[in-house]
Order: sequence, then C-alpha cells, then structure tokens
Amino acid sequence: MNPGLQVSETHLPGLELVHRGKVRDVYRVDQNSLLLVASDRISAFDCILPTLIDRKGEVLTRISSFWFNELRAITPNHLITTDISAMPEIIAQNRDLAGRTSLVKKTEVFPVECVVRGYLEGSGWKEYQATGSVCGQLLPAGLKQCDRLPEPLFTPATKAATGHDENIDLATFREIVGDETAEYLRSTSLRIFEHASAYAAQKGLIIADTKFEFGRDNDGSILLIDEVLTPDSSRFWDAETYSPGRAQASFDKQFVREYLETLDWDKTPPAPPLPASVAAATTERYIRAFELLTCTRF
Ligand SMILES: Nc1ncnc2c1ncn2[C@@H]1O[C@H](COP(=O)(O)OP(=O)(O)OP(=O)(O)O)[C@@H](O)[C@H]1O
Ligand SMILES: [Mg+2]
Repeated sequence: MNPGLQVSETHLPGLELVHRGKVRDVYRVDQNSLLLVASDRISAFDCILPTLIDRKGEVLTRISSFWFNELRAITPNHLITTDISAMPEIIAQNRDLAGRTSLVKKTEVFPVECVVRGYLEGSGWKEYQATGSVCGQLLPAGLKQCDRLPEPLFTPATKAATGHDENIDLATFREIVGDETAEYLRSTSLRIFEHASAYAAQKGLIIADTKFEFGRDNDGSILLIDEVLTPDSSRFWDAETYSPGRAQASFDKQFVREYLETLDWDKTPPAPPLPASVAAATTERYIRAFELLTCTRF
C-alpha cells in the first residue's frame, strides 16, 4: 500500500471494466464475482468533482465492510473479502489498490434505491414544506427542519441510468420489483436502519437518512450490495450538537454541498474544483465518521 497516493481512475490489466460509476470502478472477475474499486472521486449534486478526496476510497471500503459484518444477522450481503492478498493473483498484484477493493458476489441489481429517512432534511424537508408529506406519505403538521420523524419512512427512488434519481411511490416500487420482493426490500431496509441507528446512537452519531441497494445473486438469493451506511450514502449527524430547526453539523458531504452552494454554479458538469482546505476538511470528516462508528483508529 502506498498511503497518501490518490486514486482517480483505475485500469486493471486483464480484467474487464464493466462500469465506471461516480465513485467506484467495477470489474468482472468471473461469472459469479465482481471487483469494486473505490476511488477518491467525490460527487455532489450527481456531478463528479475534479478534486480528489485523500483516503476517501479506503474509508468508504472500511465503513461498508464494517456494516456488512455488523448487519449479518439481519441480511445476507455481497461481500466476499476486502483483503487484496486473499483475492485472485490478477487482482492481488495491484498492491497499490489495497484497502480500497472489495471482491463481491455478482448480482442482478434491482433498479431501485431503497431510501430510509429517520429525520426530516434534504429533499424530504423541501417536499414536506411544500406538501406536508414526504414521497406521498402524510406527516404531522408543524415539523421543523431536521426533526425526528414519528417513525422511519421508506421512500424509494428509481436508479436513473443518467441524471438524478427520482422518488417513486410504493405502488410504482411494487410494479418495478414485484409485490413479494417489494415487501422484502421495504421491511429489510427498515430493519437495517433501526439496527444501525441504535448502534450509531451508542457512538454519538445520528443516522438521519440513508440509501441501500439490493441485488439477486446467481443462486437466486437477495443480497444487500453496493456500499452501506457510508458518508456518501447517508447523512450522519453529531448527536451531541443535534438541534432541530436548522441544518446540522454532519460527517458527510453536506460540507461540500454547502461550499458549492456559495458559488455561482448551475450544478451541471463541469463541476468546479474544491479549495484544498475544503478537500482536507472532507477527508477529516470521513475519517471521523469511520473512527466514531467503529471505535478504531483509521
Ligand atoms: N454485488 C453487486 N452486483 C452488481 N452490481 C453491483 C454490486 N454492488 C454494487 N454494484 C453496482 O456497482 C456500481 C458502483 O459504482 P458507483 O456507486 O460509483 O456508481 P454510481 O455512480 O452510484 O452509479 P450508478 O449506481 O448510477 O451506476 C453501482 O452501479 C452499483 O449498483
Ligand atoms: Mg453509488
């Protein structure tokens, strides 16, 4: 491993790149497995920024790996190993990618994002102010920004191939994945959220909202896939300073979004670079989230 070396894009000789996402490069390993390589890219408002975030790929990989293990009793998942020396030689020889690679079971991804919201912020807060409900689910009147919801809400979205994901109601969600799978994804997402929130609360963190992905593996099992409860896929707040009625101090990309909001940028590519101080502060926040959650030094 070469600490401090930033990774923007990977090219692994001998492996077929099947997808370059906003953050991860996905390679086909064999019929049953994929390699996910987490780069140091960061996206905001669905655009990849030109600035890399030091250590981000490693932090994301370690946080997801931690949660897959922690959530094992609630849901099976796709992770085979994050230990590069235990991977096939064609991967293991790329030592500079140690810490940021996950060998996973290949699945057919359900084309939906399983969003769970425990608190009112972001697009949910905007929608509530306009309509009094979130994704068609009516809420009590008089809630403030970042208020805790009476109970966590499952608010699915489509996984748009390009552009922004779109919120969908439960009927549309059922049409896309089928009734039985819909009920399984909904109840499993809520159970994961409840378990993880209780765990995080003990560590002084609030999980305000998050997004899960699921897929079906070659044996027909439904697995939790992708990344889990990371600062890229979730809003993490500091429980100690939490106070509804305003935006919260967070351990996620909110800091980057807030910086970008100060610029005269229309949120279409190309995205502007981040000042070094904002990038460094983002690294710090991601590492802090990892350390708080896992009680481990990064
Ligand atoms: N076990 C798995 N089987 C198949 N695909 C997976 C698995 N785990 C993750 N993926 C996919 O790998 C990709 C990870 O890349 P990344 O998160 O950077 O993409 P993204 O920019 O969020 O974009 P998108 O999800 O729109 O492709 C995602 O498309 C995700 O759905
Ligand atoms: Mg993604």
